[in-house]
Amino acid sequence: MVKNNQREVWGSKIGVILAVAGSAIGLGNFLRFPVQAVKNGGGAFIIPYLISFLLLGIPLMWIEWTIGRFGGGFGHGTAPGMFHNIANKNRFVKYFGIIGIFGPIVIYIYYTYIESWLLGYAFFSLTGNLALCQDQTSMVSFLKGYQGLEKNQFFSSIIPAYIFFVLTFILNILTVAGGIQKGIERVCRYGLPVLFLMGIILMVRILTLSPIYPEHIDWTPGKGLGFLWNPDFSALLDAKVWLAAAGQIFFTLSVGIGVILTYASYLKKNEDIILSGLTAAATNEWAEVVLGGSIAITSAFLFFGPEGIKNVAESGAFNLGFVAIPLTLNHIHYGFIFGFFWFMLLFIAGITSSISLAQPAIAFLEDEFNFDRKKSVKIFASVTFVLCNLSVFLLSKGFVDELDFWGGTFALVLFGTIEAILFSWVFGIDRAWDEMHAGSDLTLPRFYRFVIKYITPSLLVIILVFWFIREAKDVVLMKNISAEVMPYIIFTRFVLFALLVAIAWLVHIAWKKKEA
Ligand code: ALA
Repeated sequence: MVKNNQREVWGSKIGVILAVAGSAIGLGNFLRFPVQAVKNGGGAFIIPYLISFLLLGIPLMWIEWTIGRFGGGFGHGTAPGMFHNIANKNRFVKYFGIIGIFGPIVIYIYYTYIESWLLGYAFFSLTGNLALCQDQTSMVSFLKGYQGLEKNQFFSSIIPAYIFFVLTFILNILTVAGGIQKGIERVCRYGLPVLFLMGIILMVRILTLSPIYPEHIDWTPGKGLGFLWNPDFSALLDAKVWLAAAGQIFFTLSVGIGVILTYASYLKKNEDIILSGLTAAATNEWAEVVLGGSIAITSAFLFFGPEGIKNVAESGAFNLGFVAIPLTLNHIHYGFIFGFFWFMLLFIAGITSSISLAQPAIAFLEDEFNFDRKKSVKIFASVTFVLCNLSVFLLSKGFVDELDFWGGTFALVLFGTIEAILFSWVFGIDRAWDEMHAGSDLTLPRFYRFVIKYITPSLLVIILVFWFIREAKDVVLMKNISAEVMPYIIFTRFVLFALLVAIAWLVHIAWKKKEA
């Protein structure tokens, strides 16, 4: 094995916690969570969500920190090398690890583009253009015009969106080119406090708003909060709500993706895992349910009421964040500043996540091919720039949705299942438990040993089986895809497959070289 002794390390404990929290806090917290919560009945969603957090999210967080730190000790920053060592250098197990490089790249391809809309919207909030939209129809037109889906009074081409995309892409690449301490850690150290400050200001403003319409005086912030927090036990038997809740936990915590493995590989040998992992996860949940929940759900509730809010959430994944919230903000004094805060907060949340999505592929090239950072970043940037362009120009053809399904939903659960099984059953729970506690500031109750060994893997397998029974056939046979977009979906799947094969081939070559 080629040992790379020059791997970077995090500059400080708070630095790594903020970087992991930055990876976790993202568009998922402020755009995806409110939509999932509203679509799945608000109070009906929150119970499966919290249970999934305790039984899947937190254990996987610790599993990934442990595998990551362990693998980093052997000079590996990505799953193939980590799995290889965990499974006693078995010839095949490393190939499961390709999902941990594939997933982040796939998410990065569409995530960066959506992130760039936020920079654009922050800009148009300040210029006052967004304030021209006072009703739902014009706000939807603004979004469609911006995305290049129609020409209208707001936009006659996709050029503004493309400029913001290129700017966002460059910012991401410059950050990862700066490396772990000077790039990623620095951006998260400054970014997260600013994000929290803007989030708290927005939350306080929204929670103190009066009802917007005199005829709906019961559409208050308190009722908006009740929409999420009044538990509804009737939906607990609905498998769909459980799947949505578990999926959200994966996405929001960034577990099952592969990125936490990579971040944890830059920990020092005996640096604490348990308390740091828990702190990062708790920070994410605070941002999600407290900030995300109260800002997004409450403001949409004020404008649309209990029925309207569901229609908005169901009418499109972006309508809550890009239509409902700016509409509410446009109706308050100095709304353009609050609008700027909302989109800037989201942009910071986005960039601290997308840099974590970029890092696994870069680490793979550095660690397994001994390329220097500059070369690795250049290769990553060239490949993903081409692929991101497909997100820009094939948005209306289902490209982004398809990527979100395979990279942002399915791959996460599959990869999480593989990790959980390898950790407890191949590495062995005794070694795993000791490794997890090495250098720890906190000792976990033994109950969690049972959870990690039995409950987490079983729940994950159940989720996968359910998914296969309920949806796999329709997805594979493209049952719900219209004839018009069918060729594009086939093309998208071909691209994804080619990417997966290319990564597998690179793993093959890398190990062949090492063994030579
Ligand atoms: N965890 C990141 C998010 O929530 C990917 O957006």
